[in-house]
Amino acid sequence: MSANEKRQAGEAAIRYVEDGAIIGVGTGSTVAFFIDALADLKDRIQGAVSSSEQSTAHLKRLGIPVLDLNATGALTLYVDGADECDTHKRLIKGGGAALTREKIIAEASQKFVCIIDSTKQVKLLGKFPLPIEVIPMARSLGGREIVKRGGQPVWRDGVVTDNGNWVIDVHGWQITDPVGLESDLNQIPGVVAVGLFARRAADVVLVGDKVM
Ligand code: 5RP
Repeated sequence: MSANEKRQAGEAAIRYVEDGAIIGVGTGSTVAFFIDALADLKDRIQGAVSSSEQSTAHLKRLGIPVLDLNATGALTLYVDGADECDTHKRLIKGGGAALTREKIIAEASQKFVCIIDSTKQVKLLGKFPLPIEVIPMARSLGGREIVKRGGQPVWRDGVVTDNGNWVIDVHGWQITDPVGLESDLNQIPGVVAVGLFARRAADVVLVGDKVM
């Protein structure tokens, strides 16, 4: 059921792709369906800006040019999945450890279309442990700062992000003020990116092939 909805969402996002555009592409199993569908349109787009080495490899394998965000400028469309999504289209992301590049592309894009299956819909964010990318030297400091804020940090041992950093997953937070928490966590030295997408939430959420 969940895999079927992921496929539906990935394919439904194609309707937002405009001729001649450069598409921001996220990371994950739902996005993989989007990339597969995008390959059918590859002659009608300029290319893609990718959020991870994983998506880059997939895009290139299907012959979709991968472009540098510094060269493209702002994008019209970003398509990505999420680990949780609330009713205000605020998200937890980073289950695949690609949160920093995902956040950069989301910020650089006019429209963020988030593609999920219905298991990702929540009333309150936080059941899914919140990923935070940190510079390795700041792991312990970051962990202590998280504990001060009532969270339980768990180092995602063995995972190195595409940027050479580490990920802390924070358990036990019921996130009633996502924008406030995102801003607060961003102030901790050594935090590269927080997997809360609240300040820049999604614009459109597709749950399977339905607009939320
Ligand atoms: C990667 C992400 C993904 O979008 C998120 O983990 C959802 O993945 P999937 O589509 O495989 O369920 O944020 O960093």
